[in-house]
Amino acid sequence: MKTRLLGLSTLLVSTLWLGCDSESPSITPESEEAAQKAVPTWYRDIKPIVAQRCEGCHTATGIGPFALSTYQDAQARAAALADSVKARRMPPWLPSPDCQKFSPERRLSQKEIDLFVAWSQAGAPQGNPADDKSLPPVRLSLESPSVTLDWGEAYTPSAAKQDDYHCFLIDPKLQKDQDLVAYEFAPDQRHEVHHALIYSATMADAKAKDDAAPGLGWPCSGSSDVKSAELVATWVPGETFAEYPTRTGIRIRAGSALIAQLHYNTRHGVTPDRSRLKLRYSESPVPNRATIVPIANASFVINPYQKGATAVASSGPLPVPLKIWGVFPHMHELGRSAKITANNDCLVEIPQWQFHWQQMYFYDSDGITVPKGSEVKYTCTWDNSTGRTIRWGDGTEDEMCIAFFYTTLY
Ligand code: HEC
Repeated sequence: MKTRLLGLSTLLVSTLWLGCDSESPSITPESEEAAQKAVPTWYRDIKPIVAQRCEGCHTATGIGPFALSTYQDAQARAAALADSVKARRMPPWLPSPDCQKFSPERRLSQKEIDLFVAWSQAGAPQGNPADDKSLPPVRLSLESPSVTLDWGEAYTPSAAKQDDYHCFLIDPKLQKDQDLVAYEFAPDQRHEVHHALIYSATMADAKAKDDAAPGLGWPCSGSSDVKSAELVATWVPGETFAEYPTRTGIRIRAGSALIAQLHYNTRHGVTPDRSRLKLRYSESPVPNRATIVPIANASFVINPYQKGATAVASSGPLPVPLKIWGVFPHMHELGRSAKITANNDCLVEIPQWQFHWQQMYFYDSDGITVPKGSEVKYTCTWDNSTGRTIRWGDGTEDEMCIAFFYTTLY
């Protein structure tokens, strides 16, 4: 299969739960106390986990279908919560733990899962508010942004499409080059905003595209459809804000435009949306300028009802040594599994693909060094449940095999 490499050549680049001691022969006052302690309670054991691991999505306005803000919220569905974490459906986190460690990682430890199960089995006791050792709530928004931007007015997605991909021009009014080091995409209508891709491009290119289409912005799928566009940030549901790895950042040139590509899903109706973007620039130029580079295979053919169809996208031998800090595998709805390797070392593996949970995964470590001449490969596997022949395309019903890498020159 023909593969292609895009852009690489231009690279510049608690409380401890003690467990039930079932073997204790008799219950003395001390062990009774210990047994009491062993039963997890909401305040002591569960609330701290929920605050850290669930509330990012399960709030009144979040994308989770119900809030988990109070004891009553959680107690009412204790069994369902335990079931969802035991089966590792929640929190949603797709990468296999056997490949690499990422940060932040939305994966519960076995101990945390056991606490949920034991708490539910014990009848979801509330416990004592004095035991509440919840860490301060997880920070949900970016501290000290340099700018907050949007596209000036609300956009109402097209009700005629189930998936409306739309691009918006944003003028960051940059007088000088800036290095983007952190950002927050703040969706307005969370139930309909399914992703956001932020690009930088020349103002002339972006304006030409914007002026050519009537109304606010322009319809665009797959990418921004603007030639000079370079990806600078990504957002998917569940992400709050992102900070690029220390001492790295993405340069945005003076006078350039930003383009936000939004994916609106209109399954639950259409509501005018005015999402916002907060950016933090580095005070001084960063030592390691990063680029987000893709590799793609766009020439695959998936036959009707074909199971286990695969395609491999390859970088070819890398012309320069690279440091890879983050990986973002992408496919559409027929994806079954995804794996990225560098010289056969696993960079990320998604054993069970889910279209609605995609993101850039940043490594826990100081990036992964990939020597010159290495081959980076992305293997996509699909199950075609339709009677159609499927090829590369922008529509949700087409497929893609493309992966993005947040890289710096080594
Ligand atoms: C990244 C966002 C996100 C996080 C974090 C998250 N959830 Fe969810 N949750 C969702 C969404 C969206 C749904 C509904 C769609 C679905 O099932 O995927 C859902 C559905 C559920 C459901 C009902 C469906 C099922 O699979 O059982 C339960 C129970 C649940 N979540 C519990 C939790 C618990 C407990 C946590 C924390 C340990 C958590 N969730 C963390 C987004 C999230």
